[in-house]
Amino acid sequence: MIPLCDLKQQYLQIKEEIDAIMQEVAASGYFILGPQVKAFEQEMAHYCGCKYAIGVGSGTDALHLSLRAMEIGPGDEVITTPFTFIATTEAIGMVGATPVFVDIDPRTFNIDVQQIEAAITPHTRAILPVHLYGQPCEMDAIMEIASQHSLHVIEDAAQAIGATYKDRKVGTFGTTGCFSFFPSKNLGCFGDGGMVVTNNKKIYEQVEMLRRHGGRVKYHHSELGLNSRLDELQAAILRVKLRHLDSWNRLRRKHAYKYNQLLTEVPEVQQPREIGSHGITSPVASRVTGELIEAVYHQYTVLVEDRETVQSELGKANISSAIYYPVPLHLQEVHHDLQFALGSFPVAEHASNHCLSLPMFPELQETQQEYIAGKMRGSSRSSQFDSENKKAG
Ligand SMILES: Cc1ncc(COP(=O)(O)O)c(C=O)c1O
Repeated sequence: MIPLCDLKQQYLQIKEEIDAIMQEVAASGYFILGPQVKAFEQEMAHYCGCKYAIGVGSGTDALHLSLRAMEIGPGDEVITTPFTFIATTEAIGMVGATPVFVDIDPRTFNIDVQQIEAAITPHTRAILPVHLYGQPCEMDAIMEIASQHSLHVIEDAAQAIGATYKDRKVGTFGTTGCFSFFPSKNLGCFGDGGMVVTNNKKIYEQVEMLRRHGGRVKYHHSELGLNSRLDELQAAILRVKLRHLDSWNRLRRKHAYKYNQLLTEVPEVQQPREIGSHGITSPVASRVTGELIEAVYHQYTVLVEDRETVQSELGKANISSAIYYPVPLHLQEVHHDLQFALGSFPVAEHASNHCLSLPMFPELQETQQEYIAGKMRGSSRSSQFDSENKKAG
């Protein structure tokens, strides 16, 4: 079976480094908020090009703690995308605020910046863009709107670590940027983990305090915080992996281009698009301009007409594929109280009905991609044949 992502292969490649550091941590007897976390925070701040980085328990907690640090709560609205993982609105709900959805751009799957301003009300406190599948959002436009309306920006960069927008790493534009180190992420640990990055000292101090029970001095608590700490073992593993991240991301981009070439001629398959300095382009063009914009392809996601047939044919050919995400957030049961009907955000709904993510991991082989593309071609032909037969019948 060709997996969607292959964590075993990744481990085997760096086994010696990982095993050595895990033993070192075990022997140190230091497991919570010790030297590994401190060093990883410094290395991540340096990698992202920002002042502060705070290791937390998960990407969800990174979003939650960001909102808490900005004192966003009941009565406040946060503008975000309906086409994302539930953690995005979960965090908004956890602080008692209300998510306000804005539909996505059909070409990038990210929030449609043209529609943000219309969603702003006197209750809006923040914009929470998600760099979905590792594709940077249009940060110039988002930051401009935020500054005009005095709003915070919280970047959900859980899927986009290392992605660049105009020479800057995503996560460093907003008041905070939030990362997830869930194992399958581009930089993943061996459990749960997350991080908040920021250039704002006050926000840094708040998040740092909230992640450890709301106290700066041991057993003295000024606020109700939570227990949300990245642990030493995870930080040590992440420090090793961070050294490989750029080369892994380069391989992901290479595989994305290869898929694009292989799938060019396949009818009924819409390839992912990238944003470039001069608007939405096909990949590669973004490199030609002076300011670098690079997606990091956490997922390689296409739109296919007859997804059920294509996915079933891939499965029969031992190829994994996945649907991220089958139900947009405005139609999730948990958000019934927001009273959105089918058709409220048609672009997100269309993406949910037709998106399909193909195997994507640095170790993916070109021969595997050729095999996958061959099956995509075959299954798209058979789904065309089925629909023509249905019409004829
Ligand atoms: C877009 C997005 N936001 C937030 C999260 C939450 O991260 P975590 O699973 O580390 O809590 C994820 C990860 O699954 C994600 O994909």
